[in-house]
Amino acid sequence: MSKTIVVLPGDGIGTEIVEQAVRVLEQVNDTHKLGIQSQTYAFGGASYDESGEPLTDDTLAACRAADAILLGAIGGPQYDKAPRDKRPERGLLRLRSELDLFSNLRPAMLFPELAAASSLKPELVAGLDMMILRELTGGIYFGEPRGIETRDGRRVGVNTMVYGEDEIRRIAVSGFEIAMQRNKRLCSVDKANVLEVSELWREVVIDVAKDYPDVELSHMYVDNAAMQLVRAPKQFDVIVTSNLFGDILSDAAAMLTGSIGMLPSASLDANGKGMYEPVHGSAPDIAGTGKANPLATILSVSMMLRYTLNEPAAADQIDKAVASVIKQGIRCADIAGTDSSANETLVNTVQMGDAVLAAL
Ligand code: IPM
Ligand code: MG
Repeated sequence: MSKTIVVLPGDGIGTEIVEQAVRVLEQVNDTHKLGIQSQTYAFGGASYDESGEPLTDDTLAACRAADAILLGAIGGPQYDKAPRDKRPERGLLRLRSELDLFSNLRPAMLFPELAAASSLKPELVAGLDMMILRELTGGIYFGEPRGIETRDGRRVGVNTMVYGEDEIRRIAVSGFEIAMQRNKRLCSVDKANVLEVSELWREVVIDVAKDYPDVELSHMYVDNAAMQLVRAPKQFDVIVTSNLFGDILSDAAAMLTGSIGMLPSASLDANGKGMYEPVHGSAPDIAGTGKANPLATILSVSMMLRYTLNEPAAADQIDKAVASVIKQGIRCADIAGTDSSANETLVNTVQMGDAVLAAL
């Protein structure tokens, strides 16, 4: 029973962190005899440099055929001047859309030893464990019309926030299903006091709730949700929200956990096929310095084993190894210098990979 993973290292620190994550994947592949084979493709800026396209037809076809995709990160300032439709980000958006990866799971959980790394007081974040579910293939990211055009002699930029009832329904169902597996509380975040698209969103979420009587549903405007996230984040179990709101709130939630360098994500289609990637970006400022923290990508491998490949034992083993490395005080720069016990060892990207392999 062989399974194929497409690996897309991408740009910047993407290649460095993915290298460590692939070592971890190979080791659990051996230990648990998972039969996983991986193929690596250029993507984003790296692909644009090679072929003039951020996502080539070959790469897209390989991703379609694969069981799962492991992505590093894409983008960099050198691509700011590329034509808009050739930018690395467009390749990522197209891949999400072509594979219909509408359900984006972004957990924000805090390792107890990293409480002091959070920008909030430790008592506000101790024990934080929440999930942001972001709609990923609709809304203002994809709505038409879009563009920059001239109207009545003046230039205007246009984007459209649009959601079909079917799109809202399927992400709401994902939200309730995830809440059922957790603490059964779902908060739907919208801007229904101003936006019609949110009014429909809320109406449909309330309708879907009828099928999930055990889940306690609440609604929050996005501005208040941003405030609540930094005021009392532990009130949340699962948040379900639209593409743009989820993009913004998930970065804020990530910071609560000490470092965005710790957080994995999964983007799933209706059949559970998925793309797995760290929440952070390609960090061109630290690329090549060995400072990048590979743990978010390593934890993304664990999510891939759990959610798409149905290998919970291998996933648990990775999660335990990462927790043990943190417990031992091994830190990349982004999470270093915060443990008052001063029992820390500062390591680079490869050494962090070594430490996880040793803990496995
Ligand atoms: C993310 C990123 C992307 C997004 C960018 C790189 C297009 O910020 O995955 O959160 O906005 O979706
Ligand atoms: Mg983002």
